[in-house]
Amino acid sequence: MLPLERTMRTACHRLITLFTLLFLMSSQLAEGTAAAGTPGRERISINANWRFSRFTSNPDSLSYSTLKQWMLPSASGFISGAKPQRPSGSAPSVKYAQSSFDDGSWETLNLPHDWAIKGPFNAPGIGGGMGRLPSNGVGWYRRNVTVFAEDLATKTVFLDVDGAMSYAAVWLNGNLVGGWPFGYASFRLDLTPYLKAGTDNLLAIRLDNALDSSRWYPGAGIYRNIWLVKVNPTHVAQYGTYITTPSVSAQSATVNLVVDVENKGSSSQQVDVVTTIHPLDPATGQAGDAVATIPQASITVAAGARQSVNGSVTVASPQLWGPAPQKPNLYVAITRLSSANKTVIDTYETRFGIRTVTIDADKGVLVNGQAVRVQGTCNHGDLGSLGTAFNTRAAQRQLQMLQEMGTNALRTSHNPPAPEFLDLADSMGFMVLDEIFDCWNNQKTTNDFHLIFADWHEPDLRLFIRRDRNHPSVIAWSIGNEIGEQSNASGGTTGLELRSIVRAEDPTRQATAAMNSASAGSAFANALDIEGLNYQGEGLGTSWSSSFPNFRKSYPNKMIWSTESSSAVSTRGTYIFPVINASHATVVDGSGGNSKAMYVSAYELYATSWGSSPDKVFVQQDKYPYVAGEFVWTGFDYIGEPTPYNAARSSYFGIIDLAGFKKDRFYLYQSRWRSDLPMAHILPHWTWPDRVGLVTPVHVFSAADEAELFVNGKSAGRLRKSAASTYRFRWDGVVYQPGDLRVVTYRNGKQWAVDTKKTVGSAAKLSIAADRTTIKGDGYDLSFITVAVADASGDTVPVASNAITFSISGPGQIVSTDNGDPTDMTAFPSLTRKAFGGLALAVVRTEAGASGQITVSAAAAGLTGAQVALTAI
Ligand code: GAL
Repeated sequence: MLPLERTMRTACHRLITLFTLLFLMSSQLAEGTAAAGTPGRERISINANWRFSRFTSNPDSLSYSTLKQWMLPSASGFISGAKPQRPSGSAPSVKYAQSSFDDGSWETLNLPHDWAIKGPFNAPGIGGGMGRLPSNGVGWYRRNVTVFAEDLATKTVFLDVDGAMSYAAVWLNGNLVGGWPFGYASFRLDLTPYLKAGTDNLLAIRLDNALDSSRWYPGAGIYRNIWLVKVNPTHVAQYGTYITTPSVSAQSATVNLVVDVENKGSSSQQVDVVTTIHPLDPATGQAGDAVATIPQASITVAAGARQSVNGSVTVASPQLWGPAPQKPNLYVAITRLSSANKTVIDTYETRFGIRTVTIDADKGVLVNGQAVRVQGTCNHGDLGSLGTAFNTRAAQRQLQMLQEMGTNALRTSHNPPAPEFLDLADSMGFMVLDEIFDCWNNQKTTNDFHLIFADWHEPDLRLFIRRDRNHPSVIAWSIGNEIGEQSNASGGTTGLELRSIVRAEDPTRQATAAMNSASAGSAFANALDIEGLNYQGEGLGTSWSSSFPNFRKSYPNKMIWSTESSSAVSTRGTYIFPVINASHATVVDGSGGNSKAMYVSAYELYATSWGSSPDKVFVQQDKYPYVAGEFVWTGFDYIGEPTPYNAARSSYFGIIDLAGFKKDRFYLYQSRWRSDLPMAHILPHWTWPDRVGLVTPVHVFSAADEAELFVNGKSAGRLRKSAASTYRFRWDGVVYQPGDLRVVTYRNGKQWAVDTKKTVGSAAKLSIAADRTTIKGDGYDLSFITVAVADASGDTVPVASNAITFSISGPGQIVSTDNGDPTDMTAFPSLTRKAFGGLALAVVRTEAGASGQITVSAAAAGLTGAQVALTAI
């Protein structure tokens, strides 16, 4: 969104198989991963045992302006024109980069790490937009890495950083190696020239986060995985394979592969390149027997040069990749480089899928020729109370919930995701709109990416596409979100430049951008392959005037989709009266809002002044069937951007709250996106001691076409879905009396699904449940523990806010707690957490090498406590 608007605004489904789960948990397979024992290449995690310190004022007098000339050469491989050269003078060095510096008083920790997530909230200088957590400052990370004398003589050693927030500068043994400013980029540096044999190669990484650098919570630190990659000087280059499947049928598929070979040695090398194609077993992550071989090619790569080689092969009876109802089958291409004497000098694995994606102006997205309506959500990268520190299980849990809702598409708003996120999307069958920028040259916040766009947009965009283009889940690239230049001529010029980079790096996919204000016919919109509309499609706020028809008229041959829709807001389990007698309203006090408590009604009818209720969006999506679908803002609540109540900590946009508890909206989307699922969902809860005798509307979400509501056994009427409320059933005149509600729904005259709600008693005990009771003892795996405050008969008390204290015994740790309340300023690591809407969450992580029983207990004053046992294996 644009600055002015920002200111205004600031005021397969559930059944993921066990196989898939095991596969995902067992794999950290990013592109280029070599399985253990694969000759020629080692990829070693160096996540463990870092020393860390954060400084709120600059401790070393360094800044991007002093470091820039040493950082830019790190990007040379991704710059098409003159390559930036490393300056000849001596590079800045500081005491923190020297092995003589004593870091004994610093914190010891493992990565991925988000230094800000532990809080406390209300950090100086950080407003609601950035989540009130202390993400600013300079952070230094230090660790020794081991290099064997033999490696020193024969290997090239790279450092691969999947993501560090932000302005990363890297020193090895006191020498400045290089760096990368964009905090969402996955970058590589060549450590080889600075290595020495031994266990004490000191790696020191400096990060620098300004205040006012983001519109949401950016996190802070080395928040993704970090690796040492040891290869022969002649090897497959970084992201050096590109697989395309230009023709696909049930009988056969053509697999084209480009392999880019880099020679960092001092003499030219002759290499044989051969690639075998294997199905990837989802149960184990292992490659099956080869089903095809790309014939061997021999090339000679000059010293210090790169050379690419093209190959192609036909795969018979391919198992295609596709979103539900298709299957997300995967393959792996194993590329081997051999030297003249036939020794294998590199082995490089590329996961891919065989599929076609067609972008069609009339039919929308077709995968393998089959039209798939885009039922998408946007999401930021934070994982709730875990912050931005990437965790595969936490991301998988989010995606499982979205899939249970019927989501089949994800927009990585507004930046490149963790590499493992795309691995999850591939294997779970999501389509991904992969997005890179939230701003170009025009700023949204004082210190955002606009400061370095001129120097870094090209390498960042090329790197991003090369990293992600083999993922079958990625169906299109987004070059920007609500870019400030949308209405200027410069928006068109920059848009064309970025689009040409996209085409150069990946001619198989189209470029889109998310436009909230650009109009049809503008230079900006003209520059795009796919027209992406934010909010204007359904009509901004209370307006029903849609810009879909204008875009359709101007671009009859381009696909149009809602890159961002809705921006509805709600607080889980919180209902505010009266309820509007319409399908959409802007949230204000008296209409869905309570600015004092900072809650928004969960009747799911209220939105921001530019947004729309889901019901309104559905009307407009259905009215213009050429629109390929929508990406709802957002799947999950996220930290920061707490519109409409800026004094809160986290957003209200999520269909699911920050703790991962479903809001009622979840069932509204499920009723539309999984319309074959017999489901009915009643709201609100039915425990209203203060509302006896008062009108308390009852709404039901279901894909049924008729529904009858019974209030204390008496029919309140049988309704047919009418044009005015096509997407929900509503009995707005119900008068509350304690008792029960029961809805019986019908489809085509036959009973479809039933739901009930009843008045519950007072809080008596806690109930506890773990999402998984057996977890891996690897120091990463998680169990998400939900505690409910229940009455004597075990029903959740929907308004309970008792303080719950968690404790743990055994080889695990409670990493964080939450309750989804956007106003709760208790720091996330706190072991005491008030229930919100009757629920609280604790996240348990195993210790590395752990095995045996872990017991998690929950206690609350005056209530019977509860315990759950987990097993670490
Ligand atoms: C959009 C913007 C998103 C988010 C959203 C909130 O305009 O693209 O990043 O700010 O508004 O409604």
